[in-house]
Amino acid sequence: MKKTLALLLAAIMMLALVACGGGDKPADSAPADTNQPADSAPADTNVPEAPAEGGTIGVCIYQFTDAFMTTYRNALQEILEGKGYKVSTVDGANDQAKQNEQINTFITQGVDALIINPVMTSAADQIIATVKAAGIPTVLINREPTADQMAVYDKLVYVGCDARQSGTMQGELILDTPNKGDINGDGKVSYIMVQGDPENVDAQYRTEFSVKALVDAGMEVEELNLTRGDWMRERGQEIVANDLAQFGDQVEVVFCNNDDMAIGALQSIQAAGRKVNEDIYLVGVDALDAALNEVQAGNMTGTVLNDAVGQATAAVEEMENLLGGATYAANSQSVYVDYVKVTPDNVQDFMG
Ligand code: BGC
Repeated sequence: MKKTLALLLAAIMMLALVACGGGDKPADSAPADTNQPADSAPADTNVPEAPAEGGTIGVCIYQFTDAFMTTYRNALQEILEGKGYKVSTVDGANDQAKQNEQINTFITQGVDALIINPVMTSAADQIIATVKAAGIPTVLINREPTADQMAVYDKLVYVGCDARQSGTMQGELILDTPNKGDINGDGKVSYIMVQGDPENVDAQYRTEFSVKALVDAGMEVEELNLTRGDWMRERGQEIVANDLAQFGDQVEVVFCNNDDMAIGALQSIQAAGRKVNEDIYLVGVDALDAALNEVQAGNMTGTVLNDAVGQATAAVEEMENLLGGATYAANSQSVYVDYVKVTPDNVQDFMG
């Protein structure tokens, strides 16, 4: 009797193994680690934490080589896939015409929603007209159009940050130093500004508001140079090497609109024999891992967290609102995630 029972159990286990192990199901079908049949909808609600039945989402990124947008797109992908969506992420290669084609292709393929990081903010009108004509719920990210541009389509929302805040925080990082940025004590803060792509409001506002914070605090300022570095590390390095060669010890503060350019700047600062926080200050924005390491090591005065994971989470949340039928009224189509100042005192909280 015992033996029969054991045989029966063994047979049941074999059957179960065969059912779970079917090697011919497509790789992108239902999650492999549940006990459900691979090809059915998750009708059995006993499976805990099973991803929601997702749709197909097209994600357009302006340029894959951008360091910050790499962190951001990885976060987006992980969150979307974790929720059971099929995700296709494409590289606009900094070419708006190419991105327009990619958007059209996604529309033809019948994606359920789009998340778009425009190549050119100035192309927003065209992008919005295209997604509106196709009736696709769309979340724009990272490059903010104007409220008027967005107002024409109520299934559209922007998720990003208020770049003025990051600029102000950069200024505050300098004001928090012992001499408020006036290292040589001549009564003024002499700085160079390494700007991102000025077509982007993040670059415009960070440039303006970092300096405004100093002026508002009563500091006199002197701009030795402002050069566009288009968000790129190598440009940051080149620009700061040139500026240090030209202005030497006059340079007290290096403002970079993002961390990647600040890392490039740091290479040139070190090559010129200067020492951050002793004879020059250096600030960036983003809190990239590389910058956090330099802040901790005392090689950057500080940075500002541009919360990629927070923005990706909010973008997916808004996308789901749109998929659920939500519409957005004019002038309430921007959702902002806060920036956070990062200094040696709190850098540990952002690492790892
Ligand atoms: C980030 C930059 C990035 C840019 C791309 C900004 O918010 O700070 O690092 O290059 O977005 O649009």
